[in-house]
Amino acid sequence: MRIPLIAGNWKMFKTTKEAVAFAEEFKKLYKDTDVRAAICAPYTQLTALKAAFEGTGIAVGAQNVHFEVQGAYTGEISSAMLEEIGVDYCIVGHSERRQYFNETDETVNKKLHQLFSTEIVPILCVGEVLEERDAGKEFEVVKTQMEGALAGLTGDQVSRLVVAYEPVWAIGTGRTASPEQANEMCAYIRKVIEDLYDEEVCDRVIIQYGGSVKPSNATEIMNMDEIDGALVGGASLIPADFMEIINF
Ligand code: PGA
Repeated sequence: MRIPLIAGNWKMFKTTKEAVAFAEEFKKLYKDTDVRAAICAPYTQLTALKAAFEGTGIAVGAQNVHFEVQGAYTGEISSAMLEEIGVDYCIVGHSERRQYFNETDETVNKKLHQLFSTEIVPILCVGEVLEERDAGKEFEVVKTQMEGALAGLTGDQVSRLVVAYEPVWAIGTGRTASPEQANEMCAYIRKVIEDLYDEEVCDRVIIQYGGSVKPSNATEIMNMDEIDGALVGGASLIPADFMEIINF
């Protein structure tokens, strides 16, 4: 049985003071449900959020990590640094990092290898841009991203993975993929994992949809058979909205 995961991606929003205020408000609304909730926040907010959410079951994630164990990489953060402060998840390969920070399938793959040497669960983001969908290439693009990301990983490792299908044209645009489009790609991603590994592995992977998920569309997205959760950007910044999505 896969436990759905609804994760907020705060991107570069909220100071620590604002993050703590969010946590205090969110905790008042939060009731333990069958859904796992997480907030992926900027690095400087992680320790405060871990402390604020202690004992609640609400998990905390980072949004990036470096692929080396340690070294002369000014400005970077290692998986051991994240693990030390109790980070539960780490987003890898978000389209904004692919677009603005030269993230490639190769660096995504190295980051997954590095995270799997810790207890941190990676949330691997994949998804096509609009031109690729318009050209009918979305499956090909996502398959290439998946195969590149998973190269050299074992079935045991991949069975712990979370994948977020985020069509780039639906991120922050208010334009959601239809539940059917999202469901179709999530099913396809599971098939790609089955072809690379086996049924047991692909049955365990949590596959989320992300891109303009909000209270008004969460129910129909979450009720799709192949969708095990959501990666939520804008709507995760507001406690009541994020809680409504969790309660879909
Ligand atoms: P959005 O962002 O919900 O604001 O579209 C999703 C994401 O980038 O993960």
